[in-house]
Amino acid sequence: MPARAIPYLKIVVHLLCLLPFVWLLHMYQNGDLANQADPVNYLTHYTGDWAVWILLADLTITPLRRFSVKLAWLVRFRRMVGLYAFFYATLHLMIYVFMFSGYDVPTAFAGLQAGHLAEPWRQFKVIWPTIHDDIFKRKFIQIGFAAWLLLLALAVTSPQRIMRAMGGKNWQRLHRLVYVAGIFACIHYWWLVKTGVRRPMKDTVVLGVLLLARVLYALWKRRPMAAKTAVKA
Ligand code: HEM
Repeated sequence: MPARAIPYLKIVVHLLCLLPFVWLLHMYQNGDLANQADPVNYLTHYTGDWAVWILLADLTITPLRRFSVKLAWLVRFRRMVGLYAFFYATLHLMIYVFMFSGYDVPTAFAGLQAGHLAEPWRQFKVIWPTIHDDIFKRKFIQIGFAAWLLLLALAVTSPQRIMRAMGGKNWQRLHRLVYVAGIFACIHYWWLVKTGVRRPMKDTVVLGVLLLARVLYALWKRRPMAAKTAVKA
């Protein structure tokens, strides 16, 4: 891939990653979202699905580039795609807090417009017992939240200058947690569906293949001959 093509390809990747969000705005504008049987539920599932799919796409980059040195340029997209996974996971969390949990958005806005700056916080205190109960009672919320915290840590430490400050090895070790975030996200999915529902299977199989690729590569790299030819991680 010629270096001068990378900026154009980056624009394409940005557009592709933003497409689900733009589609959601389009659905909101033309009324399709309101016509869903349960719009809030639809939004929660839509953003959750895209967070997982983009996270899986991000995890695919490393095994792909290891196929050949010619694919080394793919690494230039890893941070960007990872940040989009975080973006959709954060949107998902916002939808959970501000819609799923019953936050009264119109009252919070009306309060702000009337000059009551504390109204959004007051509304948050109203729903806090529901969120608190969810965090302590529902396992799938706990693991989803843990997945989001990991993605947050990776997003915050993703800039180059933080990588330099942490040292390459430490940074790499921390960023391997992206696999743990993927595992947590799949467990979150399994724990929230009813027993017997197999919807999370496809995502789990893809994650399993990617983890297996990672393990096989690590084993292969340990062989004395292979160590010399291994593409640097
Ligand atoms: C930040 C904490 C999180 C909370 C509070 C949360 C909450 C939820 C809730 C309430 C649902 C719907 C459950 C239902 O239908 O009853 C859901 C679904 C889902 N969440 Fe999360 N989640 C979180 C983090 C994540 C993360 C980090 C990911 C992925 C990276 C994720 C992926 C999903 C998926 C794939 C679904 C199911 C989508 C479907 O059924 O099509 N969630 N989540």
